[in-house]
Amino acid sequence: MSDQDPLIIFTPSGKRGRVPEGTPVLDAARRLGVDLDSVCGGRGKCSKCQVAPGYGEFAKHGVTVARDALSAWNEVEARYDRIRGLKDGRRLGCQARVMKDVVIDVPPESQVHKQVVRKRAELRDIVLSSPLSLAYVEVAAPDMHHPSSDLDRLLDALKAQVGLERLGIDRHLLPVLQPTLRKGKWAVTAAIHVDGDPRVVALWPDFFEGPLHGVAVDLGSTTIAGHLVNLVTGEVLASSGLMNPQIRFGEDLMSRVSYSMMNPGGAAEMTRVVREGVDRLIGELVAEAGIGAETLLDASFVMNPVMHHLFLGLDPYELGQAPFALAVGTAQRMMASDLGLTIAPGTRAYVLPLIAGHVGADAAAVALSEAPHRSDDLVLVVDVGTNAEILLGDKTGVLACSSPTGPAFEGAQISAGQRAAPGAIERVEIDPVTREPRFKVIGCDLWSTEDGFRTAVAASGITGICGSGIIEVVAEMRMAGIVDPGGLIGAPEATGTARCIPEGRTYSYLLWEDGDRRITVTNGDIRAIQMAKAALYAGARLLMDKRGVDRVDRVVLAGAFGAHISPKHAMVLGMIPDCPLDRVTSAGNAAGTGARIALLNREARGEVEALVRRIEKIETAVEPRFQEHFVAATAMPNAADPFPILRSVVDLPEVDFNTGGSGDGGRRRRRRG
Ligand code: FES
Repeated sequence: MSDQDPLIIFTPSGKRGRVPEGTPVLDAARRLGVDLDSVCGGRGKCSKCQVAPGYGEFAKHGVTVARDALSAWNEVEARYDRIRGLKDGRRLGCQARVMKDVVIDVPPESQVHKQVVRKRAELRDIVLSSPLSLAYVEVAAPDMHHPSSDLDRLLDALKAQVGLERLGIDRHLLPVLQPTLRKGKWAVTAAIHVDGDPRVVALWPDFFEGPLHGVAVDLGSTTIAGHLVNLVTGEVLASSGLMNPQIRFGEDLMSRVSYSMMNPGGAAEMTRVVREGVDRLIGELVAEAGIGAETLLDASFVMNPVMHHLFLGLDPYELGQAPFALAVGTAQRMMASDLGLTIAPGTRAYVLPLIAGHVGADAAAVALSEAPHRSDDLVLVVDVGTNAEILLGDKTGVLACSSPTGPAFEGAQISAGQRAAPGAIERVEIDPVTREPRFKVIGCDLWSTEDGFRTAVAASGITGICGSGIIEVVAEMRMAGIVDPGGLIGAPEATGTARCIPEGRTYSYLLWEDGDRRITVTNGDIRAIQMAKAALYAGARLLMDKRGVDRVDRVVLAGAFGAHISPKHAMVLGMIPDCPLDRVTSAGNAAGTGARIALLNREARGEVEALVRRIEKIETAVEPRFQEHFVAATAMPNAADPFPILRSVVDLPEVDFNTGGSGDGGRRRRRRG
């Protein structure tokens, strides 16, 4: 290349270099490592290579671009414009040739590795880099003088175009290969999948524009949720969920493990029903998105270890007992049909790796999404569900454990508990002076004390308390001095409110009543919440011990439930360690996001596999200090840890309702803690 050759500068990458006069812009982009898409290999068919040349003075780059810096508009571009239309100022990069110095902008839609912007500031954007791509090729027709198979000529053409040395083809395509080539008059579009051995996974006659699609599935013990995604833009086209049909074998995971232990063929039966459920969900997503099922060619799956084994057709027996040995925990790549799924025949399935016997691929996906291993400060990530999965770490290392919180946070084991649904109490405030409550129910924006509330909730009724509601009401009771740090509800004389009503040997707090219908918080409810939150906190505290710290810099609450928990109330209960309230954030469904990242970015698959190998796994069951932390954490917020940051912003009355059997209803000592 000489100094006389024209200079080409690409934006936004800023890559620049000299190329011989007459070089197509697409070739120049490839030489300089610029991300410019092409499906048809420069045949003017796909328009993926569109670029926007700039003309005039570019002081920043030190060049002036003449109007004739690129070759004139050619017949291929004119034809494309006539038939499909090219945006003003756009050229086809494979047709326009560099004649003089030029500045070329590559618009986002012409980049293969586009960024999908994630809204939360602390998260990096997802770079689109799907293992799937389309390639249009023209294949040499058979020639008796140079005998070779249609397949050899197809693979040779594809390898040359996409620059692969090795390329295979899925067996299911062999019967359709010859008719497809002939129907396309020796031109075909192939979908190539490169995660693992590169393979042709689908074929269309002539030019097929796409887009291709994928599905990210979060296979939970209660619900199966899926997102159908456009692999070119990253856009979610349809999201849906259904109840895990395995529920009929047991609500929680351990009862499903025991079902498999006690019933010959039980595991196989559960495998069959969960695969049917996933298949049905994917069918619904395809219908909702209105796409051709043959374009759905990739799928990613995250799940806990028991669901993982059952979905893969492995008996979860060993996961039901110490030492909780996994049959296999590494990431799995397979055909979706190997999982009994009836998507397109070439669809690939990627199952994220498990972290340990109790810490699943769902936690690995949370780690991929929340990236504690990239964090400068020490972050605690908690995925709250029937099992809390907990990650603690920063750039220097990440620890993980799971803790058996049980279903209390989901409203189970709570006398008035229910799933989050219209009519469920989800927010509660208790006046610290009058100890009168007000609340909101799902489906109504008004507080219960506001005009119009009764009419607004007439249709749904007030039916119970959901998980976030129970956390708020218990924390509010603690802040109002109605329940003591040990979890006892005081008598009316001790608390100063007639809403504390006797129930057996303890008291309940009357949250709402209408005629003979009542919603109360019993002392048993408080106990259930104490047990659940103590398990969660003890797990987090154990990881902090291992790390040698007694503080974390920030807390991320993941999981659908995490999205609804108020940080203040969670901390008053002592669910999470003391830290500034504005440093507690919610990540929503981080496991689902992680599944989507693994679907859209093949490098992320390598990243999560490497991360899982590096994560230090802590088994709570064998750690003696877990029990110690658990006992201290049954108090609200905690009997051992002082929570100074919380106490600087919240008044926590030091009441004590333990009567010691005196029957006087408890003493009240009020002081600011
Ligand atoms: Fe397909 Fe240019 S590369 S139209």
